[in-house]
Amino acid sequence: MSDLNGKVALVTGSSRGIGAGIAKEFARHGAKVVVHGRDTAAMSAVRAEIEQAGGQAIQVAADVTSFAEIEDMRGKVERAFGPIDVLVANAGGTPIKPSPLEEISEDGWHASVDANLTATFLTIKSVLPGMKERGSGAIITISSAAARRPHPGSPIAYAAAKAGIELLTKDVAAQAGPYGIRANCIAPEGIRTEQNADLLPTAVLEQLIEQHPLRRLGTPEDIARAAVFLASADSSWITGIVVDIAGGAVLV
Ligand SMILES: NC(=O)c1ccc[n+]([C@@H]2O[C@H](COP(=O)([O-])OP(=O)(O)OC[C@H]3O[C@@H](n4cnc5c(N)ncnc54)[C@H](OP(=O)(O)O)[C@@H]3O)[C@@H](O)[C@H]2O)c1
Repeated sequence: MSDLNGKVALVTGSSRGIGAGIAKEFARHGAKVVVHGRDTAAMSAVRAEIEQAGGQAIQVAADVTSFAEIEDMRGKVERAFGPIDVLVANAGGTPIKPSPLEEISEDGWHASVDANLTATFLTIKSVLPGMKERGSGAIITISSAAARRPHPGSPIAYAAAKAGIELLTKDVAAQAGPYGIRANCIAPEGIRTEQNADLLPTAVLEQLIEQHPLRRLGTPEDIARAAVFLASADSSWITGIVVDIAGGAVLV
C-alpha cells in the first residue's frame, strides 16, 4: 500500500466530489489532510468523516482565484500542521455550457480560465517556494478529458484552460525537478459525483455509459487511488506526465 504517513496534504476543492474522495483516501493512507473549499458545512462533513475514520484533518476556506486568500490559507495550514508536502490543485469546474466559440461571452471565457488555469497557477505559486527550500514535494494538478481532444460536449474555454494546466504541470516538473519536487497531472472524465449523479436522466446516463469502453462511469475513488500513487514515494521516478482516468473515453 502506498504510504503518505505524516505527510501534510492540501487538497483544494475537497469539500465535495473528486477532491473529497482524494482527501479521504489520503487520510486513510496516513496523511494530515487539509480539506478546502468555500462551503463551510460541506467542508465540515468531509472533515468529520475523516476524523471518525481515525484520520487527521483541518478545514480551511479560500477562494483559489485570489492569491491573497491562498497565501492566507497556506499560513493557517503551516500553523496547524507544518509545511505542505503534497498539493493537489483540484478546485475547478466549468462555469459555462458547451457552445460554438462565437457564442462564448468575454465574462464566460475569463471565468473559465480563472476558475481552472489561474487558480492552479496561483496555488502552485504559493506552495512551490517552501517545497524548493525543503528540497521535496509532490504536486498533482487536475485537467480533464476535455483538454485531450476537441469534443462537442466540452466548453471550449474550459478545455483550453485545462490544456493550459497540462503544460503548466510539465513546466513545473521541468523547473522544480532539480529541487526534488515532482509534478504530475490527472485528466478525469465521466466521474460521478454528488453534484452530477442525480441530475442525469436515466436515458442520458445510459448513453454516457455507452461512450466508455469500460461500460460504467468513474468514481472519485478511481481518481483518489491514482492520486495516492502520484503523491507517494511509489511514483518517485515519475514526473511531468498526464494520466487519463477516463474509462477509455479518450480513445473513442
Ligand atoms: N467530475 C468529472 O467527471 C470531472 C471530469 C473532468 C475534470 N474534472 C475536474 O475535477 C475537479 C473536481 O471536479 P468535481 O466534479 O469533483 O467538481 P465539484 O463536485 O463541483 O467540486 C468542485 C470543488 O472545487 C471547489 N471550488 C471550485 N471553485 C473554487 C474556488 N474559486 N475557490 C475555492 N474552491 C473552489 C468547490 O468548493 P465549494 O463547493 O465548497 O465552493 C468544490 O469543493 C475539477 O477541476 C474538474 O474540472 C471533473
